[in-house]
Amino acid sequence: MIPAKRRTAVLISGRGSNLRALIEAAQAGDYPARIALVLSNKPDAEGLRIARQHGIETAVIESKGKERAAFDAEMHALLQSKGIELVCLAGFMRLLTTEFVQAWYGRMINIHPSLLPAFKGTQVHERVVASGVRVTGCSVHFVSPEMDEGPIILQATVPVPPDATPQSVAAAVLEQEHALYPQALKLLAEGKLVIEGQRVSVK
Ligand code: GAR
Repeated sequence: MIPAKRRTAVLISGRGSNLRALIEAAQAGDYPARIALVLSNKPDAEGLRIARQHGIETAVIESKGKERAAFDAEMHALLQSKGIELVCLAGFMRLLTTEFVQAWYGRMINIHPSLLPAFKGTQVHERVVASGVRVTGCSVHFVSPEMDEGPIILQATVPVPPDATPQSVAAAVLEQEHALYPQALKLLAEGKLVIEGQRVSVK
């Protein structure tokens, strides 16, 4: 029997290029996850358009002016009501409460445009170039209550040549992100990831 595809929500705030990569990967018949919902905290997020073009259900829960706990509770209720099993944060630029993260721990992953634990936070590529590192990359990790600190699932590296600019690094890293995120979601949806403290092993 073919196992059912895991119902996955993608949370976005903007452009949605990683969302697009996940949608395209999930179109393969043997991909173990289905993108069942795209949820944005910004009504004008470009990624909402990408979702609609693909016939995927969308939802907007505006975070502006809302208490963090109330916003997260609203998201949690929506995800549950839609039967969501897995959550991918894809450029979702909003800190989550410990309660929300704990409710989804082990079932919620994020992509970050650096080789964690280096360069957490924002303005990553500017800091990468200014720092003089010769290698950067991207990381997919489980979401834990501390920002950009959860157990790392997969990473990909990108060289930083001497003439690199934040823009050139961003473009090279983004290309890797689009390959890496679908691989990580596949492993999660197949139930192949085991969290042991801060380490993740692949069954
Ligand atoms: C991506 O580069 C992603 O790694 C980053 O935001 C961008 C979203 O692009 N996420 C973070 O910085 C989270 N800390 P996208 O909307 O085109 O996928």
